[in-house]
Amino acid sequence: MRILTSSSVKEAALLLRRGELVAFPTETVYGLGAPIFNPLAIQKIFQVKGRPSDNPLIAHIGALSQVEEIAIDIPPEFYQLSEIFFPGPLTLILRRKEAVPALVSAGLDTIAFRMPNHPLALSLIQEVGEPLVAPSANLSGKPSATRAEHVLEDFKGKISAVLDGGATTFGIESTVISLYDPSRPLLLRPGQIIREELERVLGRPVAICSKKGEERVISPGMRYRHYAPNAFLKLFTRWEELEEYAENRPQIKRLLLVSSPIPRNCQRWEHLPLSAKELYSAFRYADREGYEEILLLCNEEILSNVALMNRLQRAMEI
Ligand code: TXA
Ligand code: MG
Repeated sequence: MRILTSSSVKEAALLLRRGELVAFPTETVYGLGAPIFNPLAIQKIFQVKGRPSDNPLIAHIGALSQVEEIAIDIPPEFYQLSEIFFPGPLTLILRRKEAVPALVSAGLDTIAFRMPNHPLALSLIQEVGEPLVAPSANLSGKPSATRAEHVLEDFKGKISAVLDGGATTFGIESTVISLYDPSRPLLLRPGQIIREELERVLGRPVAICSKKGEERVISPGMRYRHYAPNAFLKLFTRWEELEEYAENRPQIKRLLLVSSPIPRNCQRWEHLPLSAKELYSAFRYADREGYEEILLLCNEEILSNVALMNRLQRAMEI
């Protein structure tokens, strides 16, 4: 597996056109790419990730005109959102064009797509000449990759290359909104772009897809355990409580993830800063070092970050 730099976008595109898998950076997390009209390459993505075949993929477009190649019945709501948020960390769901391999959408009649706000991703898509489908570039069930090294950790020897763009800006996956029924937009996954911003632009309420039954049908990915380190996770909002908990269990190999202000006596334990950008990196570090437990100290800012709290919640589910 090769690590390619920004001067090798053409080479990366050539590999993709030959049907080989190449991971690339976006502003959220790294994606594991294949051209959308190459079903064999897409099949390989499911294989190397160990991804259940009923979990659909996101298409990454490089120009607005590419939407017409993959979706039908494009509603005005699409243009309202894309004008403000493209390129950016927002994934939209519309009806899928029949020419798009059903494998991409795990058999659903919809297609999820976004335009990533990353120069390497955009020039790669342009060089390949068609949208790239790309799930997050991690083994299924592992934290997403936010650095090229994370991709290497999971896929060394299994994919052809990773385009190295350094650490990603946001560190958490895109917001996913369904416009399948444009009169009833549905938020399927919270992200950096929050529900209130979407409501403001659309001028109507955005429902949250939270009922378990509904999720199962509409967003298959939400039912799988995700983003999880091997260590046991526990959340605290007060330092004193965390300290007491840790003091009562001195024998455990633990890592603290703490939001600011960092408590002074934190030095007694191994600790790293808690942030959306570095969360997955910290999870991966904890796995490599064999921590049994991760204690998180969350301030108000962290608690009000809906996307981050959603990932923490899901990492704590068994
Ligand atoms: O930020 C991101 O979105 C990253 C970067 C690489 O773009 N990608 C990403 O992909 O997070 P992935 O495959 O890890 O998550 C895609 C989510 C899954 O929960 C999947 O079920 C859902 O989007 N999804 C994809 N297509 C869908 C569809 N047609 N209908 C409903 N949900 C869909
Ligand atoms: Mg993922």
